[in-house]
Amino acid sequence: MKINDQMAALVNAQVNEEFHAAHLYLAMSFQMANEGYDGFAHWFLQQYHEEIEHALEMAQYLQARSGQPQLTGVAEMPQHFGTPLELFEAAYKHECHVTEQIHKIYKHALDTSDYATSSFFKKYIDEQVEEEDSVLAIIDHLRMAGDKGIYLVNAQLGKR
Ligand SMILES: [Fe+2]
Repeated sequence: MKINDQMAALVNAQVNEEFHAAHLYLAMSFQMANEGYDGFAHWFLQQYHEEIEHALEMAQYLQARSGQPQLTGVAEMPQHFGTPLELFEAAYKHECHVTEQIHKIYKHALDTSDYATSSFFKKYIDEQVEEEDSVLAIIDHLRMAGDKGIYLVNAQLGKR
């Protein structure tokens, strides 16, 4: 059954959100690499790849339901986001925003009895719980480590 226009627009907006998140994390990765934090740069680069994967999966879902993804422009990203702790805090805030968007899509899918879409997005609801939890854990480690221990956290994240 073809996806309805309103639902398709919501899924399409999320495809673009995922690409936006990817670029945000890539810009953060570039900043960290530039400052010699290879571990943090690696972590943010992995996030970039994950977000691209999400965007493509959602676009493929839209296509499978006879919808057509439409890409919007990529916003210009800042070159400097702050300290490593501030970067992870910004990443956490962004993940919470993504969670809200996914919840809206899921709710709309249920409200309109689009069970295929609610089923597809279920895994992203679970995934967001994990995402938020893992970023919060890094924020905790950075706070505990302070300035002196920051390289330990950096080294640990390089092993991800
Ligand atoms: Fe994502």
